[in-house]
Amino acid sequence: MRVRVKVIMKIAILNNSMKDSAYKIPLFDLNFDTEEEHEIIRTVRSKWISMGENVKTFEKEFEELLNVKHSIAITNCTAALHLALEILGIKKGDEVIVPSLTFVATVNVVRYVGAVPVFADITSFNDLSVDPDDIKARVTKKTKAIIPMHYGGFSCNMDDIKKIAEENNLFIIEDAAHAPLSDYKEKKIGTLGDIGCFSFFSNKNITTAEGGMLVTNSDNFAKRARLKRSHGMTAVSYDRAKGYATKYDVLELGYNYRMDDIRAAIGLAQLKKLNKDVKKREGLRRVYLSKLNDISKLIIPYKDFQHQSSNYIFPVILKDSNAGKRDLIRKKLAERGIETSVHYPAVHRFSIYKEFTSELPKTEYVADNEITLPLYYNLSEENIEKISCGLKDVLKD
Ligand SMILES: Cc1ncc(COP(=O)(O)O)c(C=O)c1O
Repeated sequence: MRVRVKVIMKIAILNNSMKDSAYKIPLFDLNFDTEEEHEIIRTVRSKWISMGENVKTFEKEFEELLNVKHSIAITNCTAALHLALEILGIKKGDEVIVPSLTFVATVNVVRYVGAVPVFADITSFNDLSVDPDDIKARVTKKTKAIIPMHYGGFSCNMDDIKKIAEENNLFIIEDAAHAPLSDYKEKKIGTLGDIGCFSFFSNKNITTAEGGMLVTNSDNFAKRARLKRSHGMTAVSYDRAKGYATKYDVLELGYNYRMDDIRAAIGLAQLKKLNKDVKKREGLRRVYLSKLNDISKLIIPYKDFQHQSSNYIFPVILKDSNAGKRDLIRKKLAERGIETSVHYPAVHRFSIYKEFTSELPKTEYVADNEITLPLYYNLSEENIEKISCGLKDVLKD
Protein backbone atom coordinates (compact mmCIF):
# COMPACT_ATOMS: atom_id res chain seq x y z
CA MET A 1 0.00 0.00 0.00
CA ARG A 2 2.77 2.38 1.05
CA VAL A 3 4.63 1.69 -2.20
CA ARG A 4 1.50 2.51 -4.22
CA VAL A 5 1.05 5.84 -2.42
CA LYS A 6 4.68 6.67 -3.09
CA VAL A 7 4.27 5.89 -6.81
CA ILE A 8 1.12 8.02 -7.04
CA MET A 9 2.93 10.88 -5.29
CA LYS A 10 5.85 10.60 -7.68
CA ILE A 11 3.51 10.70 -10.71
CA ALA A 12 1.77 13.75 -9.24
CA ILE A 13 5.13 15.49 -8.75
CA LEU A 14 6.10 14.65 -12.32
CA ASN A 15 2.81 15.96 -13.72
CA ASN A 16 3.17 19.17 -11.74
CA SER A 17 6.72 19.72 -12.89
CA MET A 18 5.49 19.32 -16.49
CA LYS A 19 2.79 21.93 -15.85
CA ASP A 20 5.36 24.26 -14.31
CA SER A 21 7.53 24.05 -17.45
CA ALA A 22 8.77 27.48 -18.53
CA TYR A 23 6.94 27.17 -21.85
CA LYS A 24 3.18 27.18 -22.43
CA ILE A 25 3.79 25.62 -25.83
CA PRO A 26 6.77 23.25 -25.80
CA LEU A 27 8.79 22.41 -28.89
CA PHE A 28 7.89 18.75 -28.51
CA ASP A 29 5.63 16.52 -26.45
CA LEU A 30 5.71 12.73 -26.09
CA ASN A 31 2.84 10.76 -27.59
CA PHE A 32 2.74 8.17 -24.79
CA ASP A 33 -0.32 6.65 -23.17
CA THR A 34 -1.40 3.40 -21.50
CA GLU A 35 -0.17 1.39 -24.53
CA GLU A 36 3.48 2.14 -23.69
CA GLU A 37 2.82 1.62 -19.96
CA HIS A 38 1.18 -1.73 -20.69
CA GLU A 39 4.09 -2.86 -22.91
CA ILE A 40 6.65 -1.91 -20.24
CA ILE A 41 4.74 -3.75 -17.50
CA ARG A 42 4.23 -6.80 -19.75
CA THR A 43 7.97 -6.96 -20.39
CA VAL A 44 9.04 -6.44 -16.78
CA ARG A 45 6.64 -9.20 -15.69
CA SER A 46 7.99 -11.55 -18.37
CA LYS A 47 11.31 -11.39 -16.48
CA TRP A 48 13.30 -11.09 -19.70
CA ILE A 49 14.38 -7.48 -20.06
CA SER A 50 17.63 -7.57 -22.07
CA MET A 51 17.76 -8.20 -25.84
CA GLY A 52 15.23 -10.94 -26.62
CA GLU A 53 11.85 -11.61 -28.21
CA ASN A 54 10.62 -7.98 -28.16
CA VAL A 55 13.71 -6.82 -30.03
CA LYS A 56 13.14 -9.52 -32.66
CA THR A 57 9.47 -8.51 -33.09
CA PHE A 58 10.35 -4.81 -33.21
CA GLU A 59 12.90 -5.50 -35.94
CA LYS A 60 10.46 -7.63 -37.92
CA GLU A 61 7.72 -5.00 -37.79
CA PHE A 62 10.17 -2.26 -38.80
CA GLU A 63 11.31 -4.38 -41.77
CA GLU A 64 7.70 -4.79 -42.91
CA LEU A 65 6.97 -1.10 -42.52
CA LEU A 66 9.96 -0.09 -44.62
CA ASN A 67 9.85 -3.02 -47.01
CA VAL A 68 13.51 -3.71 -46.29
CA LYS A 69 15.25 -7.06 -45.93
CA HIS A 70 16.98 -6.48 -42.59
CA SER A 71 16.40 -4.25 -39.55
CA ILE A 72 18.82 -4.46 -36.65
CA ALA A 73 17.88 -2.67 -33.43
CA ILE A 74 20.78 -0.70 -32.00
CA THR A 75 21.31 1.22 -28.81
CA ASN A 76 20.98 4.55 -30.65
CA CYS A 77 21.37 6.09 -34.12
CA THR A 78 24.91 7.32 -33.44
CA ALA A 79 26.01 3.74 -32.72
CA ALA A 80 24.18 2.54 -35.85
CA LEU A 81 26.06 5.11 -37.97
CA HIS A 82 29.34 4.05 -36.36
CA LEU A 83 28.64 0.39 -37.12
CA ALA A 84 27.69 1.29 -40.71
CA LEU A 85 31.05 2.96 -41.32
CA GLU A 86 32.96 0.02 -39.81
CA ILE A 87 30.96 -2.55 -41.77
CA LEU A 88 31.66 -0.67 -45.01
CA GLY A 89 35.37 -0.67 -44.18
CA ILE A 90 35.78 3.10 -43.85
CA LYS A 91 39.07 3.69 -42.07
CA LYS A 92 41.84 6.12 -41.20
CA GLY A 93 42.67 8.55 -43.99
CA ASP A 94 39.48 7.87 -46.02
CA GLU A 95 37.25 10.84 -46.79
CA VAL A 96 33.51 10.87 -46.15
CA ILE A 97 31.28 13.63 -47.54
CA VAL A 98 28.82 14.95 -44.94
CA PRO A 99 26.43 17.86 -44.49
CA SER A 100 27.30 20.50 -41.90
CA LEU A 101 23.63 21.40 -41.35
CA THR A 102 23.01 18.34 -39.21
CA PHE A 103 23.28 17.05 -35.68
CA VAL A 104 26.94 16.65 -34.73
CA ALA A 105 26.61 12.83 -34.49
CA THR A 106 26.45 12.53 -38.31
CA VAL A 107 29.99 13.88 -38.42
CA ASN A 108 31.43 12.58 -35.14
CA VAL A 109 31.03 8.99 -36.32
CA VAL A 110 33.36 9.69 -39.26
CA ARG A 111 36.03 10.66 -36.73
CA TYR A 112 35.34 7.51 -34.65
CA VAL A 113 36.84 5.44 -37.49
CA GLY A 114 39.69 7.89 -38.11
CA ALA A 115 38.28 9.10 -41.44
CA VAL A 116 38.16 12.73 -42.57
CA PRO A 117 34.77 14.51 -42.76
CA VAL A 118 34.47 16.66 -45.88
CA PHE A 119 31.63 19.14 -45.53
CA ALA A 120 29.29 19.94 -48.41
CA ASP A 121 26.82 22.82 -48.54
CA ILE A 122 23.02 22.59 -48.61
CA THR A 123 21.10 22.83 -51.89
CA SER A 124 19.13 26.04 -51.27
CA PHE A 125 17.04 27.84 -48.66
CA ASN A 126 14.09 25.79 -49.92
CA ASP A 127 15.92 22.44 -49.83
CA LEU A 128 18.09 22.24 -46.72
CA SER A 129 19.60 18.86 -47.51
CA VAL A 130 23.09 18.33 -48.87
CA ASP A 131 23.63 19.58 -52.44
CA PRO A 132 24.53 16.85 -54.99
CA ASP A 133 26.50 19.37 -57.09
CA ASP A 134 28.59 20.33 -54.09
CA ILE A 135 29.09 16.67 -53.18
CA LYS A 136 30.36 16.07 -56.71
CA ALA A 137 32.78 18.97 -56.46
CA ARG A 138 34.27 17.57 -53.25
CA VAL A 139 34.91 13.99 -54.39
CA THR A 140 38.61 13.08 -54.40
CA LYS A 141 40.57 9.86 -54.81
CA LYS A 142 40.27 9.38 -51.04
CA THR A 143 36.48 9.67 -50.90
CA LYS A 144 34.85 6.41 -49.83
CA ALA A 145 31.33 7.31 -48.73
CA ILE A 146 28.59 9.94 -48.56
CA ILE A 147 26.27 10.41 -45.57
CA PRO A 148 23.14 12.24 -46.77
CA MET A 149 20.95 13.38 -43.88
CA HIS A 150 17.22 13.72 -44.65
CA TYR A 151 16.63 17.03 -42.89
CA GLY A 152 13.37 17.13 -40.94
CA GLY A 153 12.18 14.00 -42.75
CA PHE A 154 12.37 15.64 -46.22
CA SER A 155 14.35 13.38 -48.52
CA CYS A 156 17.59 14.42 -50.16
CA ASN A 157 17.85 14.29 -53.95
CA MET A 158 18.69 10.59 -53.88
CA ASP A 159 18.73 10.07 -57.67
CA ASP A 160 21.60 12.52 -58.07
CA ILE A 161 23.41 11.32 -54.94
CA LYS A 162 23.16 7.69 -56.08
CA LYS A 163 24.49 8.64 -59.53
CA ILE A 164 27.56 10.31 -57.97
CA ALA A 165 28.08 7.27 -55.72
CA GLU A 166 27.86 4.88 -58.68
CA GLU A 167 30.20 6.92 -60.87
CA ASN A 168 32.81 7.16 -58.11
CA ASN A 169 32.35 3.80 -56.42
CA LEU A 170 31.21 5.31 -53.11
CA PHE A 171 29.02 3.88 -50.37
CA ILE A 172 25.89 5.69 -49.21
CA ILE A 173 24.94 5.66 -45.53
CA GLU A 174 21.61 7.42 -45.07
CA ASP A 175 21.23 9.34 -41.83
CA ALA A 176 17.48 8.79 -41.57
CA ALA A 177 17.29 9.84 -37.90
CA HIS A 178 14.40 12.20 -38.73
CA ALA A 179 12.70 10.17 -41.38
CA PRO A 180 10.67 7.09 -40.38
CA LEU A 181 8.04 6.50 -43.10
CA SER A 182 9.36 9.34 -45.28
CA ASP A 183 9.66 8.26 -48.88
CA TYR A 184 11.39 9.08 -52.15
CA LYS A 185 9.79 7.92 -55.40
CA GLU A 186 7.80 5.09 -53.78
CA LYS A 187 10.73 3.81 -51.71
CA LYS A 188 11.15 4.37 -48.00
CA ILE A 189 13.95 6.62 -46.84
CA GLY A 190 16.74 4.59 -45.27
CA THR A 191 16.41 1.84 -47.90
CA LEU A 192 17.89 3.75 -50.84
CA GLY A 193 21.59 3.57 -49.93
CA ASP A 194 23.79 0.73 -48.66
CA ILE A 195 22.79 1.20 -45.03
CA GLY A 196 20.19 3.45 -43.36
CA CYS A 197 20.18 4.57 -39.72
CA PHE A 198 17.18 5.73 -37.65
CA SER A 199 16.95 7.37 -34.24
CA PHE A 200 14.39 6.70 -31.53
CA PHE A 201 15.68 9.43 -29.21
CA SER A 202 12.96 10.89 -27.03
CA ASN A 203 12.05 13.84 -29.28
CA LYS A 204 11.74 11.83 -32.51
CA ASN A 205 8.51 10.85 -34.35
CA ILE A 206 8.65 7.53 -32.51
CA THR A 207 10.79 6.94 -29.48
CA THR A 208 12.17 4.26 -27.22
CA ALA A 209 13.78 6.94 -24.97
CA GLU A 210 17.17 6.08 -26.48
CA GLY A 211 17.35 3.74 -29.43
CA GLY A 212 18.11 3.28 -33.09
CA MET A 213 17.72 0.97 -36.07
CA LEU A 214 20.17 -0.02 -38.78
CA VAL A 215 18.48 -1.17 -42.00
CA THR A 216 19.95 -2.76 -45.11
CA ASN A 217 19.05 -5.00 -48.03
CA SER A 218 22.48 -6.69 -47.88
CA ASP A 219 22.61 -10.08 -46.11
CA ASN A 220 26.32 -9.62 -45.49
CA PHE A 221 26.04 -6.13 -43.94
CA ALA A 222 23.14 -7.34 -41.77
CA LYS A 223 25.09 -10.36 -40.54
CA ARG A 224 28.04 -8.17 -39.62
CA ALA A 225 25.83 -5.58 -37.92
CA ARG A 226 24.26 -8.30 -35.76
CA LEU A 227 27.71 -9.56 -34.78
CA LYS A 228 29.19 -6.15 -34.12
CA ARG A 229 26.32 -4.87 -31.97
CA SER A 230 27.08 -7.63 -29.47
CA HIS A 231 30.88 -7.84 -29.10
CA GLY A 232 31.30 -9.85 -32.32
CA MET A 233 29.83 -12.90 -30.54
CA THR A 234 28.13 -15.68 -32.50
CA ALA A 235 25.43 -16.12 -29.82
CA VAL A 236 23.80 -13.70 -27.38
CA SER A 237 22.52 -14.41 -23.81
CA TYR A 238 18.96 -14.96 -25.06
CA ASP A 239 20.10 -17.76 -27.42
CA ARG A 240 21.94 -19.43 -24.56
CA ALA A 241 19.04 -19.00 -22.10
CA LYS A 242 16.66 -20.55 -24.64
CA GLY A 243 19.03 -23.45 -25.24
CA TYR A 244 19.69 -22.50 -28.89
CA ALA A 245 23.42 -22.27 -28.15
CA THR A 246 25.71 -23.45 -25.38
CA LYS A 247 28.88 -21.67 -26.39
CA TYR A 248 30.03 -18.89 -28.65
CA ASP A 249 32.95 -17.70 -30.70
CA VAL A 250 33.99 -14.07 -31.23
CA LEU A 251 34.43 -13.43 -34.94
CA GLU A 252 35.32 -9.74 -35.08
CA LEU A 253 35.77 -6.71 -32.90
CA GLY A 254 32.36 -5.59 -31.72
CA TYR A 255 30.66 -3.39 -29.13
CA ASN A 256 27.81 -3.49 -26.70
CA TYR A 257 25.38 -1.61 -28.97
CA ARG A 258 22.37 -3.80 -28.13
CA MET A 259 18.83 -2.57 -27.57
CA ASP A 260 17.02 -4.05 -24.55
CA ASP A 261 13.55 -5.61 -24.49
CA ILE A 262 12.00 -2.81 -22.40
CA ARG A 263 12.93 -0.25 -25.04
CA ALA A 264 11.83 -2.56 -27.84
CA ALA A 265 8.47 -2.98 -26.07
CA ILE A 266 8.02 0.80 -26.05
CA GLY A 267 9.05 0.76 -29.72
CA LEU A 268 6.31 -1.77 -30.53
CA ALA A 269 3.66 0.49 -28.99
CA GLN A 270 5.12 3.51 -30.78
CA LEU A 271 5.29 1.76 -34.17
CA LYS A 272 1.52 1.22 -34.03
CA LYS A 273 1.14 5.01 -33.86
CA LEU A 274 3.60 5.93 -36.59
CA ASN A 275 1.19 6.06 -39.55
CA LYS A 276 -1.23 8.25 -37.62
CA ASP A 277 1.64 10.41 -36.37
CA VAL A 278 2.90 11.12 -39.89
CA LYS A 279 -0.62 11.89 -41.20
CA LYS A 280 -1.35 14.18 -38.26
CA ARG A 281 1.92 16.07 -38.71
CA GLU A 282 1.19 16.49 -42.42
CA GLY A 283 -2.12 18.15 -41.49
CA LEU A 284 -0.48 20.36 -38.87
CA ARG A 285 2.14 21.44 -41.40
CA ARG A 286 -0.67 22.49 -43.74
CA VAL A 287 -2.24 24.55 -40.94
CA TYR A 288 1.11 26.27 -40.31
CA LEU A 289 1.51 26.96 -44.04
CA SER A 290 -1.94 28.56 -44.27
CA LYS A 291 -1.20 30.82 -41.29
CA LEU A 292 2.36 31.82 -42.21
CA ASN A 293 2.06 32.08 -45.98
CA ASP A 294 1.65 35.83 -46.10
CA ILE A 295 4.67 36.76 -43.94
CA SER A 296 7.08 38.32 -46.43
CA LYS A 297 10.00 38.20 -43.95
CA LEU A 298 9.90 34.38 -43.81
CA ILE A 299 11.13 31.58 -46.04
CA ILE A 300 9.33 28.31 -45.42
CA PRO A 301 11.50 25.50 -46.78
CA TYR A 302 10.08 22.52 -48.70
CA LYS A 303 6.89 24.43 -49.64
CA ASP A 304 6.30 22.40 -52.80
CA PHE A 305 7.87 19.16 -51.60
CA GLN A 306 6.68 16.20 -53.70
CA HIS A 307 7.34 13.18 -51.48
CA GLN A 308 5.97 11.93 -48.16
CA SER A 309 7.79 13.50 -45.21
CA SER A 310 7.70 12.41 -41.58
CA ASN A 311 7.56 16.14 -40.75
CA TYR A 312 9.83 15.66 -37.79
CA ILE A 313 10.19 19.44 -37.42
CA PHE A 314 8.75 22.67 -38.84
CA PRO A 315 11.63 24.99 -39.81
CA VAL A 316 11.33 28.60 -40.96
CA ILE A 317 14.12 30.94 -42.10
CA LEU A 318 14.25 34.70 -41.58
CA LYS A 319 14.96 36.79 -44.70
CA ASP A 320 17.61 39.55 -44.68
CA SER A 321 18.52 38.72 -41.11
CA ASN A 322 21.44 37.67 -38.95
CA ALA A 323 22.13 35.49 -35.89
CA GLY A 324 21.62 38.37 -33.44
CA LYS A 325 18.21 39.28 -34.89
CA ARG A 326 17.17 35.62 -34.97
CA ASP A 327 18.14 35.09 -31.35
CA LEU A 328 16.11 38.15 -30.36
CA ILE A 329 13.03 36.80 -32.17
CA ARG A 330 13.46 33.47 -30.36
CA LYS A 331 13.78 35.30 -27.03
CA LYS A 332 10.56 37.25 -27.68
CA LEU A 333 8.73 34.04 -28.59
CA ALA A 334 10.06 32.45 -25.39
CA GLU A 335 8.66 35.42 -23.42
CA ARG A 336 5.28 34.50 -24.92
CA GLY A 337 5.70 30.96 -23.66
CA ILE A 338 6.64 29.47 -27.04
CA GLU A 339 9.64 27.17 -27.11
CA THR A 340 11.68 27.12 -30.32
CA SER A 341 14.94 25.55 -31.40
CA VAL A 342 17.61 25.78 -34.10
CA HIS A 343 18.25 22.95 -36.55
CA TYR A 344 21.18 23.24 -36.64
CA PRO A 345 24.23 25.16 -35.51
CA ALA A 346 26.64 24.37 -38.38
CA VAL A 347 28.93 21.50 -37.41
CA HIS A 348 31.95 22.91 -39.30
CA ARG A 349 31.92 25.92 -36.96
CA PHE A 350 32.23 23.85 -33.77
CA SER A 351 35.61 24.12 -32.05
CA ILE A 352 36.54 20.48 -32.66
CA TYR A 353 35.84 20.82 -36.39
CA LYS A 354 37.97 23.94 -37.03
CA GLU A 355 40.63 21.93 -38.86
CA PHE A 356 38.01 20.44 -41.23
CA THR A 357 36.19 23.70 -41.89
CA SER A 358 35.08 24.75 -45.34
CA GLU A 359 33.25 27.50 -47.24
CA LEU A 360 29.57 26.77 -46.80
CA PRO A 361 27.71 30.06 -47.25
CA LYS A 362 24.17 28.66 -47.54
CA THR A 363 24.63 26.38 -44.52
CA GLU A 364 25.95 29.34 -42.50
CA TYR A 365 23.00 31.57 -43.42
CA VAL A 366 20.50 28.89 -42.38
CA ALA A 367 22.43 28.09 -39.18
CA ASP A 368 22.20 31.81 -38.28
CA ASN A 369 18.63 32.47 -39.34
CA GLU A 370 16.57 29.30 -38.95
CA ILE A 371 13.94 28.91 -36.23
CA THR A 372 12.26 25.58 -35.51
CA LEU A 373 8.65 26.00 -34.40
CA PRO A 374 6.81 23.44 -32.22
CA LEU A 375 5.49 20.35 -34.02
CA TYR A 376 4.25 17.14 -32.45
CA TYR A 377 1.29 14.77 -32.58
CA ASN A 378 -0.75 16.46 -29.87
CA LEU A 379 -0.09 20.04 -30.95
CA SER A 380 -3.49 21.76 -31.29
CA GLU A 381 -4.53 24.00 -34.18
CA GLU A 382 -5.35 26.60 -31.55
CA ASN A 383 -1.71 26.59 -30.45
CA ILE A 384 -0.50 26.83 -34.06
CA GLU A 385 -2.69 29.93 -34.30
CA LYS A 386 -1.02 31.34 -31.15
CA ILE A 387 2.47 30.53 -32.45
CA SER A 388 1.75 32.07 -35.85
CA CYS A 389 0.23 35.24 -34.37
CA GLY A 390 3.14 35.46 -31.94
CA LEU A 391 5.64 35.16 -34.75
CA LYS A 392 3.85 37.78 -36.86
CA ASP A 393 3.84 40.17 -33.90
CA VAL A 394 7.48 39.76 -32.97
CA LEU A 395 8.53 40.15 -36.59
CA LYS A 396 6.72 43.53 -36.70
CA ASP A 397 8.69 44.95 -33.73
C1 LIG B 1 20.33 13.95 -37.87
C2 LIG B 1 20.67 13.13 -36.67
N1 LIG B 1 21.60 12.17 -36.79
C3 LIG B 1 21.94 11.39 -35.75
C4 LIG B 1 21.36 11.56 -34.52
C5 LIG B 1 21.80 10.71 -33.38
O1 LIG B 1 20.75 9.94 -32.89
P1 LIG B 1 20.83 9.26 -31.46
O2 LIG B 1 20.53 10.29 -30.44
O3 LIG B 1 19.75 8.20 -31.53
O4 LIG B 1 22.18 8.68 -31.31
C6 LIG B 1 20.38 12.54 -34.35
C7 LIG B 1 19.73 12.72 -33.04
O5 LIG B 1 19.11 13.67 -32.71
C8 LIG B 1 20.03 13.35 -35.45
O6 LIG B 1 19.10 14.31 -35.34
